[in-house]
Amino acid sequence: MALRTIRTLGDEILKKDCRDVAEMKPRLHQLVDDMLETMYEAQGVGLAAPQVGVLRKIVVIDVSEEGDSPLVLINPELLEVSGEQKGQEACLSVPNKAGVVTRANYAKVRAFNEDMEEMVIEGEGLLARALQHEIDHLSGVLYVDKVEGDLMDTTEEDIQERPKRRRKRR
Ligand code: NI
Repeated sequence: MALRTIRTLGDEILKKDCRDVAEMKPRLHQLVDDMLETMYEAQGVGLAAPQVGVLRKIVVIDVSEEGDSPLVLINPELLEVSGEQKGQEACLSVPNKAGVVTRANYAKVRAFNEDMEEMVIEGEGLLARALQHEIDHLSGVLYVDKVEGDLMDTTEEDIQERPKRRRKRR
């Protein structure tokens, strides 16, 4: 596994559409491993392939406090959303910032796992938010496009206060 460079706001690749994955080739498995490593290292709860410069529909998410529940979603697609939640959101591609975004409180997603087996994932609250945020990345949409009001600065201290999470080794 290796850390990949996270592209940041202003990088044109973040605005592009991603292509479907037809087959999980070895280099895409490697990409998934690297994305997980990169997400955990950066203390993030989600990362989409375009954030590391790859225009493929691949997302990793882990909203657990322990960092031991990685979700790998290939070609994810929102099937259903309902309810509403308004809360702070941040993105590894927009370092040291946060902003308020209204999202659906429930999301149902169809995706494939790394073995290209179809699955359906349902989430509420933070997981629903992460699913919507990461799926947006696959069509070039960032949370800053949806933020209500101004972006706020977050300090290094805010980040240090988060519980340290284990890095998943596979
Ligand atoms: Ni993001």
